[in-house]
Amino acid sequence: MKKRLLSGIQPSGDIHIGNYFGAIKQFVDLQNEYDSMIFIADLHAITTIQNKEELSKNILNVALDYLACGLDPQKVYLFKQSDINEVTELAWYFNCITPMPFLERATSYKDAHMKAKEVNVGLFDYPILMAADILIQDADIVPVGADQKQHIEYARDIALKFNKIYGETFKLPEPLILKNVAIVPGVDGRKMSKSYKNTIPLFGTNEEIKKAVMKIVTDSKSPEESKNPDTCNIFSLHKLFLKDTELGVLRNKYEKGGLSYKESKDMLYEEIVDFITPMREKREMYKKDLDKVYEILNEGARRAKILVEKKMKIIRSNIGVNF
Ligand code: ADP
Ligand code: TRP
Repeated sequence: MKKRLLSGIQPSGDIHIGNYFGAIKQFVDLQNEYDSMIFIADLHAITTIQNKEELSKNILNVALDYLACGLDPQKVYLFKQSDINEVTELAWYFNCITPMPFLERATSYKDAHMKAKEVNVGLFDYPILMAADILIQDADIVPVGADQKQHIEYARDIALKFNKIYGETFKLPEPLILKNVAIVPGVDGRKMSKSYKNTIPLFGTNEEIKKAVMKIVTDSKSPEESKNPDTCNIFSLHKLFLKDTELGVLRNKYEKGGLSYKESKDMLYEEIVDFITPMREKREMYKKDLDKVYEILNEGARRAKILVEKKMKIIRSNIGVNF
């Protein structure tokens, strides 16, 4: 029996190169090894996006992104979180056994609290809903970026507490955080993130990609001067696309001098475009056949729900709401 893997990303805007290398690539690489459930975390996105057109556009975009990046709907359960309505029911049961101060310690809440004028209850409850996503599917492993690690710890703690109160019901999930997947830097050198507006969009047009690449911040060394590849943001991004030998050649050019940052950026732009062209074509193909995409999501939800309904019967009965 294969172990079960579960993960999702929020449809909160156009995905970028950091999302691809930090999350989606892992889902694709692991889809043969694990019984994989990959979903679009649309309920989580409602904590920040409360505009019908924007949300539905983003949901469809993530579905297209997943398929274009190589998730195979024959192998993975691909679905939309909101189609598994039992998740919100389970989140309620978890709400009732979780102390407020425990949630107040979540970094996601603390960050939001620092930034936003008003934190909605959904945002405060974010880790509970995420625990429900994970535990309802009996997931063994959850591949995420390092920033999500605390949420998996919440899921484990909530599972332990539930099991203590109601008897053995949930498995304890493990996070899968790949060590070689470093944080991808954005054009300003900070972590690439939608919220910092420093992204290189994965499925942007060539012009958008070029514009983002040209904005990458560097020091002011002249073309002739020797440069340090290990402190250069452009070089960090080359690492994602070049083979070791090619990277070695580029490293030499940096150190020897004679290569301008502009030339390095032009090379990076070509690498990105070459890399995404096949995925972009696949995305266009699905875009022309949206009925097929909806069918894939519906079928994924239908199959996931069969498992969830079974699990919910046990949960309800353990709680005492089911005879
Ligand atoms: P953003 O910071 O742009 O809002 P999300 O928080 O929606 O991105 O992240 C979605 C997934 O992509 C998560 O698993 C996260 O760990 C991963 N991820 C996001 N940004 C990066 C990055 N710069 N490097 C590596 N992984 C990332
Ligand atoms: N919080 C995750 C993110 O922002 C998305 C998410 C929601 C998720 N539920 C999940 C990831 C369950 C893994 C498992 O990226």
